[in-house]
Amino acid sequence: HPNLHYDNKQGLMMDGTALAPLAERYGTPSWVISADTLRQRAHNVQAAFNERGLSMGYHFAVKAQDHQACLSVLAQCGFGADVVSGGELKRALTAGMKARHIVFSGIGKTDDELTYAIQQNIGQINIESIEELTRINHLAETLQQRVRVAFRVNPDIDAQTHSKITTGRAEDKFGIAYNLIPALYRRTQQEMKGVELVGLAVHLGSQMLAEAPFRKGYERIAELVKTLRADGLSVTDIDCGGGLGIAYRGEDAPPPALWAKVIAETLGGLDVHLHIEPGRWLAAPAGVLLARVIDVKEAARRFVIIDAGMNDLVRPAMYDSWHGILPLHAPPTDTLEERVDVVGPICESSDIFARQRTLPPLKKGDLIALLDAGAYGTVMSSTYNSRPFAAQIMISNGQEAVIRKRQTLDELLAQDVVPSWLARP
Ligand code: LLP
Repeated sequence: HPNLHYDNKQGLMMDGTALAPLAERYGTPSWVISADTLRQRAHNVQAAFNERGLSMGYHFAVKAQDHQACLSVLAQCGFGADVVSGGELKRALTAGMKARHIVFSGIGKTDDELTYAIQQNIGQINIESIEELTRINHLAETLQQRVRVAFRVNPDIDAQTHSKITTGRAEDKFGIAYNLIPALYRRTQQEMKGVELVGLAVHLGSQMLAEAPFRKGYERIAELVKTLRADGLSVTDIDCGGGLGIAYRGEDAPPPALWAKVIAETLGGLDVHLHIEPGRWLAAPAGVLLARVIDVKEAARRFVIIDAGMNDLVRPAMYDSWHGILPLHAPPTDTLEERVDVVGPICESSDIFARQRTLPPLKKGDLIALLDAGAYGTVMSSTYNSRPFAAQIMISNGQEAVIRKRQTLDELLAQDVVPSWLARP
């Protein structure tokens, strides 16, 4: 983690900002996101594709991190957005992203969401099914508009990632079957007046660490483009999706340069506008979740119980995923390490952040950071166990700001409306 280091006096620092004082000032659990890291990684991705001579459409997958401040940072770096709901579309537009730089993906887009997207004149809608195509065409015709669309192809490829985040196999719910595309493409370009079919989109899976599935997936798309063109059909845009994985656990993770190389080699010669939709790679290492040790429980194992739970960061419980853990106070170098289970306060056995993890000794009151929490962290939080949403802090160039206030219990309870006809005891 090039953005993290220990300072002898201040402890763990992220991009030059000490984390412990943030935890003291704003309480725990709190998310910290670094705009500096976001910018740096956005530039890294762009540099990798520039080096290959590829001019890309960059669309940040808002589902990974939806805060408007983060979206504004990325918009300033030249990113548009990949959105999957009317809510994400509104966030992206409000944060200053240009409508024409926004792609709308998602397996279940409602008529209301599609109408909003068409009215906003967004860049492209990725179509998931024949049924959806019919609906979009009808809506656009009714609005007397023409909307740019692409067919999301299901390439029937195994992305070799966790089964809950693989998306490109035939049995997954995503995309239109590969062999149905040519006939449907022709019919759409010839008959459908509400849509301008510009090309194809594919997303193979998330947290992909191997090169082969990317290569195979894009090769299949390239074949399809050739088939369509041989048929006299026009293909001008290809959306390559997201999926580039990161080294949560020191794995051998492919750098953006490898992704760029694979795209250049498979799709680079086709004379099309290329697009990518990265989420995790940009945002995950830009964020940490700060928590405080409530107690260290000595039982069959040593349990370090922290005040963040699976309601805050659900990834370990949901995908058995591994997140690095660091104490905020610099560990004295000569202390022994110990094996502990780091667990949350939720009444579920799956509320575990780390099993039998070797960490410097932790005691009640100590502060820790859960790493790589900037993607699929805040956005997947809930208030399970009546635990309010945690605060979110942005740091940038030594400045700090609370960008999402900690929800108060009063705010949480105010969501409930008790019917007047129900007498309160
Ligand atoms: N484009 C589409 C159409 C997607 O479905 C996704 C992610 C992305 C782009 C961005 O993929 P990324 O670059 O972030 O891998 N909650 C899970 C991840 C779910 C990803 C779903 N789709 C997790 O925490 O690991």
